[in-house]
Amino acid sequence: MDLYEYQAREIFAKHGVPVLPGEVVESPDEARAAAERLGGRVVVKAQVKTGGRGKAGGVKLAANPKEAVEKARAILGMDIKGHTVHRVMLTPAADIAEEYYVSFLLDRANRTFLAMATVEGGMDVEEVAATKPEALAKVFVNPLTGVDAAKAREIVEAARFPAEVADQVADVLQILWKVFTAEDATLVEVNPLVKTGDGKILALDAKVTLDDNAEFRHPEHAAFIDKAATDPLEQRAKEKDLNYVKLDGEVGIIGNGAGLVMSTLDVVAYAGEDLDGGVKPANFLDIGGGASAEVMANGLEIILSDPAVKSVFVNVFGGITACDAVANGIIQALKLLEDRGEELTKPLVVRLDGNNAEEGRRILTEAAHPLIQQVDTMDGAARRAAELAAK
Ligand SMILES: Nc1ncnc2c1ncn2[C@@H]1O[C@H](COP(=O)(O)OP(=O)(O)OP(=O)(O)O)[C@@H](O)[C@H]1O
Ligand SMILES: [Mg+2]
Repeated sequence: MDLYEYQAREIFAKHGVPVLPGEVVESPDEARAAAERLGGRVVVKAQVKTGGRGKAGGVKLAANPKEAVEKARAILGMDIKGHTVHRVMLTPAADIAEEYYVSFLLDRANRTFLAMATVEGGMDVEEVAATKPEALAKVFVNPLTGVDAAKAREIVEAARFPAEVADQVADVLQILWKVFTAEDATLVEVNPLVKTGDGKILALDAKVTLDDNAEFRHPEHAAFIDKAATDPLEQRAKEKDLNYVKLDGEVGIIGNGAGLVMSTLDVVAYAGEDLDGGVKPANFLDIGGGASAEVMANGLEIILSDPAVKSVFVNVFGGITACDAVANGIIQALKLLEDRGEELTKPLVVRLDGNNAEEGRRILTEAAHPLIQQVDTMDGAARRAAELAAK
């Protein structure tokens, strides 16, 4: 989960990273009082989960509370790379002498953690990496030893931080590493980390991505979930432990195994390309290996309640769970939904292959459910589901 800057700032403050005070508001009127409390001269910052806010006009200096109201009015409602600004954070304007960049991240390609740092902060680090790669220090961090004083010193030296801030930056790096590990983050990034006019180091921006796989260790992180921004179907799917991602097409997809579902999305997109208006997959849903009737019912319920869905493609390759069990699961799932009072009208195209496919197909044929159509090949079934959605 990506955090908003104000949430990441909160985590930074909790662990002792030097940050400025901040207040979050949702209306221009609230900005005045917040600015007054923060000393009058403030920076108004759009809270959206994307970078480049500064360049998009989402970070503005206000000389006094009256100006803060104007800047808040200008930024609230703004669209930044497809993200609407619903909140702004106000923070005292800092006296910036120099801007640096530091981060810790999970380096999947190298199967390790990585520290990155440069004294050329403030602007896109991607740009520094592309135009001046020698200015961007990259130091691997061993997860067992982490960032102790010596490691912090190594990063500071690799990035050639000025001597007068070296100790402070090294301290901040150790605290940021504590944030990274204690919060189970996959990214902790500060851009800019600044030196102020009086020589202090401050984190002026905060970007944190939490590792969802460690969610169970952090009940306190639940407070960071932005319920208003979460798709309601994804929210319901999550409550039912389903691997569901909403997409913007018309063919609902259910499959067993992430790889199979991914390729199902591809074949449906391909089959739908030439149809009138174009037809696309409506979602990703992997019901996993042991697809019980209940899991199938929960999955179908989510997919069928999506008003964009016109047809459903159930694509199953029987493995440990054989196709006859899946076929019974589908029939029972439809019955479960009917018992729950759902009015079922959308056609289901089912393709069964693999372990016990013949028996599975026989069960479906025998059940003769009016909504179920069987097609034996994946391509054929994808085409049928796309055609049904196009009608
Ligand atoms: N409290 C502050 N006081 C003074 N200047 C600030 C403050 N906060 C941010 N800035 C300035 O605004 C710039 C952009 O802010 P920030 O880094 O938080 O946004 P961003 O989304 O990362 O923007 P960008 O990607 O354009 O750098 C900073 O590089 C800094 O120069
Ligand atoms: Mg930044």
